[in-house]
Amino acid sequence: MTLSTSAPSRLDIRTLRSHFPALERRHQGTTVAYFDGPGGTQVPRTVVAAMEDYLYHHNANTHWPYPTSEETDALIAQARSAFGDFLGASPAEVAFGANMTTLTFHLARGLGRSWSRGDKVVITELDHHANVAPWRALERDRGIAVLTVPLLDSGQLDWGALERCLEQKPRLLAIGAASNALGTISDVTGAASLARDAGALTFIDAVHYAPHALVDVAAFGCDFLACSAYKFYGPHVGILYGRKASMEEVEIPKLAPASNAAPERMETGTLNHEGIVGGAAAVDFLASLGSGKSRRDRLADTFATLHAQGAVLLRRMWDGLSEIDGVTLYGPGPDRPRTPTVPFTVDGHTADSVARHLAAGGVFVSSGDFYATTVVERLGLKDGLVRAGCACYTTDGEVDRLIAGVASL
Ligand SMILES: Cc1ncc(COP(=O)(O)O)c(C=O)c1O
Repeated sequence: MTLSTSAPSRLDIRTLRSHFPALERRHQGTTVAYFDGPGGTQVPRTVVAAMEDYLYHHNANTHWPYPTSEETDALIAQARSAFGDFLGASPAEVAFGANMTTLTFHLARGLGRSWSRGDKVVITELDHHANVAPWRALERDRGIAVLTVPLLDSGQLDWGALERCLEQKPRLLAIGAASNALGTISDVTGAASLARDAGALTFIDAVHYAPHALVDVAAFGCDFLACSAYKFYGPHVGILYGRKASMEEVEIPKLAPASNAAPERMETGTLNHEGIVGGAAAVDFLASLGSGKSRRDRLADTFATLHAQGAVLLRRMWDGLSEIDGVTLYGPGPDRPRTPTVPFTVDGHTADSVARHLAAGGVFVSSGDFYATTVVERLGLKDGLVRAGCACYTTDGEVDRLIAGVASL
């Protein structure tokens, strides 16, 4: 995705913002501008209403012959269908779990059971450690060799190194679709194609990508992909896509009496039913912002709009921040494939102190390494980064407040 700045936004931002009660919050006499979306977005009323309705009126465990249990089964099936549309997958390829990190550890443990000492896995320096540690654990526990694709100064992956790693015929490539630290969007379709040619599976971390661009697992050509609903206006629940055949093959740790059929076999214990219902409501919320015949069409339309809107905000933020003395911006520039998530540092100030200063003016940004620890190490930034991310509810005025807040340091 290359963000262009020309397309006008079609979302009515005032109406859109009215769905989010959190945007009414005031801090020290001023409205709050939330730039912490890459850490977790705010939630529209419809999502909370769906969760409340579930807990008040349908709450039960699954698979029993009485109405609330049957309703729970139906709601989970509807959520698989919603996330099937969200990911471009079939409902039978959608599993739920606590969050992306837990799902990835679980999947890695399962896949590792059929791999042998000396088998290889490829990871990248650009990834959040949720897509590093689960594979590193196999290195320690099962003697799997981990090959790492380096990060270039441009904030992009070293593609030549990726190709060389894949020439070593690994079992799996673990790659992020978008970096939560730098905003870089990586060509996961190209990477998965190379991995397939090398006989490797591909696992994609789409946690930072999914709020900004339409996920399409078929186009990506991946075997597994994970994301988290709390990054795209939903509650805290993780979603795992698995190609049906791959999900059926993996020796996933499971309880003997639990279903052995995909996708249920990928899930552990009693799920977060209300979170799943809320996650599906977040998908429907996003779909309601677009037009088209099917929910997938409406989602595609919404993401095209968010892409255009994000590009305009990104350009404004990038240009405004880069004009301030002492500010350094990181990651690919606004004309490269990236999300509207802007990391920066300010000379003479720690990332934490910049975030505190901005918070005092009601501008909420995150600071630190965001668990993309290797990225921040490679940049040589002991104090980490300040990260300002745009979400669907971000306005030009909020971006201007952010820029003015940094300029006033
Ligand atoms: C890119 C990326 N991957 C993985 C994760 C971990 O996701 P979760 O909190 O759902 O485990 C995050 C969380 O910030 C992230 O930004």
